[in-house]
Amino acid sequence: VNLRDLCSLLRFQRPPAPHGARCLARAHSIDDVARVARRRLPLPARSYLDGGGEGEHTLRRNREAFQEIDLLAHELQDVSAIDTRVDVCGAALPLPIAFAPVGGARLIHHRGELAVAPVARDAGIPYAVSTLASTSLEDIAACGGEHLWFQLYVWGDRKDARRLVDRARGAGYEVLLLSIDVSVRSKRERELRAGVTLPRPHLTFDSLLEGVRHPAWSWHFLTSPAPSFPNVTSSGPSDADLEAMFDGSVTWSDLEWMRDRWDGPIGLKGVLRPEDAVRAADLGADVVVVSNHGGRQLDHAPASIDALPAVVDAVGDRIEVLFDSGIRRGTDIVTALASGARAVLIGRPYLYGLAAAGEAGVRVALDLLTTELRRALALVGAPSLRALDESFVRRNGPRRGWAPVHQPVLRSAG
Ligand SMILES: Cc1cc2nc3c(=O)[nH]c(=O)nc-3n(C[C@H](O)[C@H](O)[C@H](O)COP(=O)(O)O)c2cc1C
Repeated sequence: VNLRDLCSLLRFQRPPAPHGARCLARAHSIDDVARVARRRLPLPARSYLDGGGEGEHTLRRNREAFQEIDLLAHELQDVSAIDTRVDVCGAALPLPIAFAPVGGARLIHHRGELAVAPVARDAGIPYAVSTLASTSLEDIAACGGEHLWFQLYVWGDRKDARRLVDRARGAGYEVLLLSIDVSVRSKRERELRAGVTLPRPHLTFDSLLEGVRHPAWSWHFLTSPAPSFPNVTSSGPSDADLEAMFDGSVTWSDLEWMRDRWDGPIGLKGVLRPEDAVRAADLGADVVVVSNHGGRQLDHAPASIDALPAVVDAVGDRIEVLFDSGIRRGTDIVTALASGARAVLIGRPYLYGLAAAGEAGVRVALDLLTTELRRALALVGAPSLRALDESFVRRNGPRRGWAPVHQPVLRSAG
């Protein structure tokens, strides 16, 4: 063997670190980012991020269902220029992607929401801020995002929820989303086993040990102000009574008062039944998000992607239908859009980036998905999002045999 030839094959340099996130230099997919994230987080934070409701059947189904859908390319289309622009809730967006609302992001990274907002701002995509964000909605707005949405949880006598809606409007939030799939908080067994307490972890011997094993996270955690829920602390949950906040009293009448109070686009997040989407449209909603909360609420709820086509059939010509739960790939985004969603929300994908490398990690995660989306559009032969329709998708899973993906999966109530 010629030594010079051999040397020319060897490369000892580190690959360049995207956005300065050195630990993600070799992350080529969201799953790669997730692996780095899991190494950096102590067990309670890892369980909070990754866990689902009860036996986590729906959490798993969200991924399996995507894997059971084939994408059928239309070949020989001119895809030399890919256009990912889309209008959502009256805003022209460069990408069909929004950051989903997430409570307590500072448990995952000490900068929490303040490490997410600049990425959404720079990419020009919406950031849906949770009522249970660990940063005040005004401080997040001060990061200057162009498209801020506010996700509302309502509780108690609604006085504080009303005040919160007014605060969101005052701070420039554009879209109001009511999450409807948390009548009560589900039993998150992974969190229970790991001893998760929100918003502040309690110190136990086990959590101390985990802290020692994850020194970087622990150092930042101990040297930063303790996480809290600043949007609701006046009369909302203290550490212990998140369970009490979700008292099961949310009904359709909440959408009615919200509609009267909010003059911008308004929607429901967590819709899975077509007739709920119809009712939302009848009550003046502009948008619904087909979602099962990333498998974190009702276990045995259908995979979100299975529920999407029937909702689109029911209201797609009246209001905008967005989608979340289980997106990990550009091809998943193409599947959701071809199944009728206008855009998707992502939760864990950007949280993995956040856990792995803070703001730089969120940028890496979004870049990976964006690059994959553009490549997937080229490979399926769709030069723009408008070109996508149900002819691109076919359900081909072992569980149900072949069925068209747009077949309704839920019986109507009537
Ligand atoms: C750690 C975590 C916290 C969440 N907190 C909220 C929340 O406060 N409000 C809400 O409406 N949804 C919440 N969600 C659900 C997300 O908004 C979104 O529906 C879900 O993450 C989408 O699934 P994916 O993680 O597979 O992308 C949370 C999700 C995660 C992973």
